[in-house]
Amino acid sequence: MSNLMAYTPGAMLTGRRAVVTGGAQGIGAAIARSFAAHGADVLVADIEPLGELDFDPTAGGSVTGLEWDVSASPCPPELVDHRPDVLVNNVGHYLRPPHTFATNEPSLWDELHEINFAHVLRLTQALLPGMTERGGGSIVNLTTVEAHRAIPGHSVYSAYKAALTQFTSSLAAEVGPSGIRVNAIAPDLVETVQVPYASLVPEEDRELWPTWSPLGGPGRPEDVAGVALFLASDLSRFVTGGTIHVDGGTHSSGGWVPRRSGGWTNRPRNP
Ligand SMILES: NC(=O)c1ccc[n+]([C@@H]2O[C@H](COP(=O)([O-])OP(=O)(O)OC[C@H]3O[C@@H](n4cnc5c(N)ncnc54)[C@H](O)[C@@H]3O)[C@@H](O)[C@H]2O)c1
Repeated sequence: MSNLMAYTPGAMLTGRRAVVTGGAQGIGAAIARSFAAHGADVLVADIEPLGELDFDPTAGGSVTGLEWDVSASPCPPELVDHRPDVLVNNVGHYLRPPHTFATNEPSLWDELHEINFAHVLRLTQALLPGMTERGGGSIVNLTTVEAHRAIPGHSVYSAYKAALTQFTSSLAAEVGPSGIRVNAIAPDLVETVQVPYASLVPEEDRELWPTWSPLGGPGRPEDVAGVALFLASDLSRFVTGGTIHVDGGTHSSGGWVPRRSGGWTNRPRNP
């Protein structure tokens, strides 16, 4: 059991009910654990069976799993019947190693649309009427730093994540009067199954982390969970339509890197 704040039992979501897609592993699992530690009854919808998710039950929360491929429509009735106050649309993926747009097979565009955007529209639309009836809710969409800057070799992925960012803003304006808030989290450099930096970064390169992000790295799924907890809870009750970057500072620092000799450059000679 970690002693991180995200998992320290509290009362931030007592009596709330949440749906988290892709919560069996990675960022989604950390969010589910955090919400449950703060008293929420969490239903995790994942293509994989839900294993043991370790969380402190003191605040009375729970986590249950529903095996569901988000690409499959329609949305299972269990998700609507759960009556969630909080929806975390977490599933997303770049799907292939980088290759140029000119060599993309068009079928990939449909797959990227499905896994990064279409399921968010479907599930959000299925759960909105219940949230409206119950007087409010919080929706959190997982985007990426690459919705805000380039990622060569993944242009279509980044385009759908940018679409999700804009959907977040416009929907927030639309449903705000019903008491529903909609926000996005844009991660980068977070150690998960999808981006396993522990194996991607060779031992001899690890000293370079401080040059890759102002806060070093890699980040951990718990770092995202803390922000999701904030956005799900009343702490953020006047926050909607925006994106919180959980990336160690890569978005804000752009191409600037510290020089070994001191100072910074945006023209590194040995990238
Ligand atoms: N890790 C990062 O640094 C990072 C960076 C940018 C964006 N993101 C975004 O954060 C979100 C979570 O990323 P992650 O790194 O934790 O991912 P991950 O691949 O490690 O975990 C994704 C989870 O989703 C589940 N899943 C995959 N396909 C599914 C489907 N079709 N139906 C239901 N469940 C499915 C998986 O079983 C897994 O539990 C994604 O939207 C991703 O694009 C992450």
